[in-house]
Amino acid sequence: MTSIEQQVILVTGATDGLGREVATSLARQGATVLLHGRNQDKGATLADDLRHSTGNSKIRYYNADLNSLSEVRQLAATIRAAEPRLTVLANNAGIGPVAPQAPRRTSADGHELFFAVNYLAGYLLTHALLPLLRASAPARIINVASIGQQALAFDDVMLIRDYDDARAYRQSKLAQILFTFDLAEQLHGTSVTVNCLHPATLMNTRMVLDSAYFPGAKSTIAEGVTALEHLMLGTDLAGVSGQYFEGLEPGRPNEQAQSPDARRQLRDLSARLTQATS
Ligand SMILES: NC(=O)c1ccc[n+]([C@@H]2O[C@H](COP(=O)([O-])OP(=O)(O)OC[C@H]3O[C@@H](n4cnc5c(N)ncnc54)[C@H](OP(=O)(O)O)[C@@H]3O)[C@@H](O)[C@H]2O)c1
Repeated sequence: MTSIEQQVILVTGATDGLGREVATSLARQGATVLLHGRNQDKGATLADDLRHSTGNSKIRYYNADLNSLSEVRQLAATIRAAEPRLTVLANNAGIGPVAPQAPRRTSADGHELFFAVNYLAGYLLTHALLPLLRASAPARIINVASIGQQALAFDDVMLIRDYDDARAYRQSKLAQILFTFDLAEQLHGTSVTVNCLHPATLMNTRMVLDSAYFPGAKSTIAEGVTALEHLMLGTDLAGVSGQYFEGLEPGRPNEQAQSPDARRQLRDLSARLTQATS
């Protein structure tokens, strides 16, 4: 079993909300924590604060805006060059639904923004870091998805027709789950596992508190941290792969996640859009 001091854990979206809290907890426990964010000053300040408040010097910050596939590629290349090991990758960064009638937005690459930031960036980052994860095995990949899910319409994945903010969010979250199940099959027989989760319902993060969709928070970030750390470090999950959790328990995702055809369509589309190879 890998001790916490030997763990090297990359948390995307570590500058706020769930990511910041889990990074803080891992730093306190003595792990090497690789923080990722999109705002250099915010990230560098957080890294300084964590080194100071936890006494853990093994904290490094990496900057990339996940709305750009070239920045995701550069992020992976920088990490591969600087870090000899990576034992956990948590694809946590995300954007939430803002308001009904919110306009459709696109990424730097022209892709629908929720699909790009919440799903496609993690797909590319994971594939680009797989050689490092394989070399550091046993290693774990965790995709922070959500209980808010909706089947992807493959004739209009980017929601050019009938755009709806909440639907765009839910599709992107289900895409993470399809990806998790698909990748687990590809990694079968290796010591790299991949699982996903709904961390907790309506945690008190900016994603929830700033959204017109939600009545307010219903759970704490601490509950989400417990669930996410279980997937990262839980000894009961050694070798477990291709699972979806709701909090600490196995859950049942939208039935499209079980469709080999849907998974193949998403895999083909993602490979085409990202040109990822691993
Ligand atoms: N909150 C909930 O109740 C809940 C429920 C289910 C699932 N989730 C999932 O949990 C994850 C974390 O959510 P949260 O509630 O902690 O949200 P949050 O407080 O809004 O934090 C989101 C993090 O992602 C980063 N981020 C957003 N867009 C980015 C981009 N284009 N490039 C790089 N980083 C970007 C943010 O950076 P900045 O600091 O620069 O803003 C921040 O660090 C998300 O995947 C979300 O879907 C949350």
